[in-house]
Amino acid sequence: MPTMVDQVAIVTGGAKGIGAGIAAELISRGCRVIIWDRQLVEAMPAAAAAHTVDITKPEIVAAAVQDAASAFGKIDIFINNAGVNGPVKSVDNYSDTEWEQVLAVNLTGVFNCCRAVVPVMRQSGYGRIVNIASIAGKEGMPGIAAYSAAKAGVIGFTKALAREVVTDGITVNALAPAITETDLFREMTAEHIESARSRIPMGRFCTLEEIAATAAWVASPACSFTTGSVFDLSGGRASY
Ligand SMILES: NC(=O)c1ccc[n+]([C@@H]2O[C@H](COP(=O)([O-])OP(=O)(O)OC[C@H]3O[C@@H](n4cnc5c(N)ncnc54)[C@H](O)[C@@H]3O)[C@@H](O)[C@H]2O)c1
Repeated sequence: MPTMVDQVAIVTGGAKGIGAGIAAELISRGCRVIIWDRQLVEAMPAAAAAHTVDITKPEIVAAAVQDAASAFGKIDIFINNAGVNGPVKSVDNYSDTEWEQVLAVNLTGVFNCCRAVVPVMRQSGYGRIVNIASIAGKEGMPGIAAYSAAKAGVIGFTKALAREVVTDGITVNALAPAITETDLFREMTAEHIESARSRIPMGRFCTLEEIAATAAWVASPACSFTTGSVFDLSGGRASY
């Protein structure tokens, strides 16, 4: 595999869960990883830097991208991972605020980050953007319509941006994992979790290691001829 040593990577929502797993994997491959999270915690991977960044705030995101580009000279990899599940309830019970908050983080946050980082990548003629979507964005999950809509939006956004930057040396791909055991589980009901597991033909949850290894490969120079694509991690559940 081509080397990832000294590649500069930003991982949003990298303080814990899937983001921390991806950050640790990139670090193990020699990347200089910058973690962004709205809430930094003690037990984070030993990253090159960690900053409190709320991806819903476009000015903060733009300034953080400039800071990283100045400090490290480039940004090779951007992992749009930060996300929230939102409350599990039917559409008719969703409030305006709940809907807006889920869309603000899961969809507009990805837009804010990509808009800021693409010019930096374009300047160096190289970039790998990996957006963490979800199988919910392909299938639609009852009880989490806002999340499903946002993740479907991330998939459409990934395909559109990929084509915009296709001759700039930048690839943009998405991952669509099935349910994975992280703190996001706390926002879900036991019924919701069991119903999600029962729909996975392999009969188990996705592991952090599986997502981290896939994200690292898609973010690597080895993944050079695939853009605008969605990599499923669904244990046989995804049918398209
Ligand atoms: N866990 C799953 O079952 C699962 C399945 C498919 C996709 N995903 C997606 O994977 C990603 C990571 O999920 P996870 O399970 O690790 O969740 P998690 O709750 O364990 O971690 C999410 C991280 O994102 C951070 N974050 C939230 N809002 C933010 C904001 N506005 N700005 C910056 N950081 C913010 C949180 O502080 C947290 O550290 C999410 O996009 C999620 O939708 C998760």
